[in-house]
Amino acid sequence: MHDAAPDLRCRLGGLTLPNPVLAASGTAGYGTERLPGIDVNQLGALVTKGISLEPRPGNPPPRIVETACGMLNAIGLQNIGLKVFLGEHLPLLRESGLRVIVNVFGETEEQYARLASCLGNEQGILGLELNVSCPNVKKGGVAFGRDPETLHHLVKRVRAETSMPLWVKLTPDGVEPLEAAQASWEAGCDALTVANTYLGMAVDVEKRRPRLSIGTGGLSGPAIRPLTLYRVWKVAAAAPVPVIACGGVSSGRDALEYLIAGAKAVQVGSGAFGNPRLYQEVLISLRDYMIRHKMATLEQLSGSLEGMP
Ligand SMILES: Cc1cc2nc3c(=O)[nH]c(=O)nc-3n(C[C@H](O)[C@H](O)[C@H](O)COP(=O)(O)O)c2cc1C
Repeated sequence: MHDAAPDLRCRLGGLTLPNPVLAASGTAGYGTERLPGIDVNQLGALVTKGISLEPRPGNPPPRIVETACGMLNAIGLQNIGLKVFLGEHLPLLRESGLRVIVNVFGETEEQYARLASCLGNEQGILGLELNVSCPNVKKGGVAFGRDPETLHHLVKRVRAETSMPLWVKLTPDGVEPLEAAQASWEAGCDALTVANTYLGMAVDVEKRRPRLSIGTGGLSGPAIRPLTLYRVWKVAAAAPVPVIACGGVSSGRDALEYLIAGAKAVQVGSGAFGNPRLYQEVLISLRDYMIRHKMATLEQLSGSLEGMP
């Protein structure tokens, strides 16, 4: 029998977070904006919008389309660039004490390595998440994530630049999930984020034109959850490093599915656009569930799936 409040502390490689509910990259800014209704300090951690060495304007509009059970985005990694992040945002983050993982992206291996060496020495950043999986840019992004050999080389190169916790965010498109995961953990990453958006498109039938400016975009939201759940289960069963689930969480039950299937933490992304209280709701649900099932720690919940044939 277990009476005390459950311990929601979450261990991810070398990192311990107060809880396993994280904000997904690109869906909660840099952690410095005032986001209506969100108490960012209650998050386990916030993963920033992807940062590149130089600022990027992103793709022209329209770059967001609503779909049944989700959305397509083709933002194209619009961001302020490393210099402005370090000069203007990081000091505010340090002051706020917010737990921040910085999502980074480059067009070449060298750019990823430079980002890691610059950010890896900075106070106020808990870790780096390598985005090798963005489908909305011509160069870089998913090109690194689809080929296990290229990915292995990249992660190894970045690993050599920093001893900071290093997460790799895998693409669900065009690669066997386990092969990309293995390439990453063998190269020395500390955790795997499974996964980014799925390549998709939408057509304006009156104009007979694509609804997104670049024609295609990344699908997120409830539509992708069963697909990502399968990948999370598959990777978590084999990986020697923790798996962080990301895709279509819009309730506590969704987060529980991921944790039971083997994830150690969950990232909440586009679900919070319509419901900024979602992070908090997920946390409350986890706590209630653990009390109801008499679980004292998150380790008892994570990977507790039974009956898989
Ligand atoms: C508007 C938008 C911007 C995003 N920007 C990034 C980004 O900069 N880097 C990244 O790795 N993922 C980015 N993503 C992907 C999300 O972090 C997440 O992997 C994806 O949306 C799936 O989770 P969800 O279904 O909970 O939204 C973005 C997603 C959206 C919707």
